[in-house]
Amino acid sequence: MVKRRSIQEGDNVLLYLSRKNSYLVRAEKGKTFHTHRGYINFDDVIGCRFGVTTNSSLNVEFVALKPTLRDYIFKAQRKTQIMYPKDVALIVMFSGIGSGSRVVEAGTGAGALSAALAFYVKPNGRVYSYEIRSQFQEIARKNLTKAQLEDIVELKSKDITLGIDEENVDAIILDLATPWLVIPHAYSALTGSGSLVSFSPTIDQSVKTVEALEQRNFADIVTFECIMRRMQIVRGKTRPETLMTGHTGYITSARKALDRNDG
Ligand SMILES: C[S@@+](CC[C@H](N)C(=O)[O-])C[C@H]1O[C@@H](n2cnc3c(N)ncnc32)[C@H](O)[C@@H]1O
Repeated sequence: MVKRRSIQEGDNVLLYLSRKNSYLVRAEKGKTFHTHRGYINFDDVIGCRFGVTTNSSLNVEFVALKPTLRDYIFKAQRKTQIMYPKDVALIVMFSGIGSGSRVVEAGTGAGALSAALAFYVKPNGRVYSYEIRSQFQEIARKNLTKAQLEDIVELKSKDITLGIDEENVDAIILDLATPWLVIPHAYSALTGSGSLVSFSPTIDQSVKTVEALEQRNFADIVTFECIMRRMQIVRGKTRPETLMTGHTGYITSARKALDRNDG
């Protein structure tokens, strides 16, 4: 029989009213959570199954959802631009990582991408995440702890353009201003056939990164952009939504090739 887990005290819950109005909160016995549509009593949802509908003090219906990785990313505290889920999904796919992979990442920023990488490599994999600004690292630590992924990520206070400590890693993921300066270190740190994936907002950065990859022994170099349009689905009026995020960044992916003698 499938075991269904009920909401327990201390669990994170996404109180969902609409796409714009949803709250990632911790369920605590005897406490309430206040919204512009009334307050929710946590005692009304603790002991119920995830997905239960509950009414606020103003009789507005909220759904108590189990938070997913996407919720943790969207609701992350941030001081830097974080990665959009459309880009995270492609980065994960092109990196080739999975449970048990060892991954180097820079910069950590708010830790949104670190959380995604940790989610896919857990429980036995590891993410080594480099960051030069300690204030961002502290925010990332809080976001990772909230998502219960802090044990999978090692936060490192280090400029990755000066070198990578780890060896034989499966993938290196870059989201920082000067990725081309990391390519020589990345080549040394990667295992043969390991992946490098770099995200950059401007094409100038992508050109420099591709040129640096071409100067090293990287194969399967590709750069692309992912554009996502949300649809308004209303019978008779179905069409793309008027406003969209026009541009986030370009993704460059490559694989480490070995010389005949190294193989
Ligand atoms: C756009 S943010 C990364 C956001 C992150 N991917 C996320 O999803 O939250 C870029 C980060 O790279 C850091 N950074 C810039 N240069 C760096 C370097 N040489 N080594 C390590 N981190 C660096 C910045 O301080 C900043 O926090």
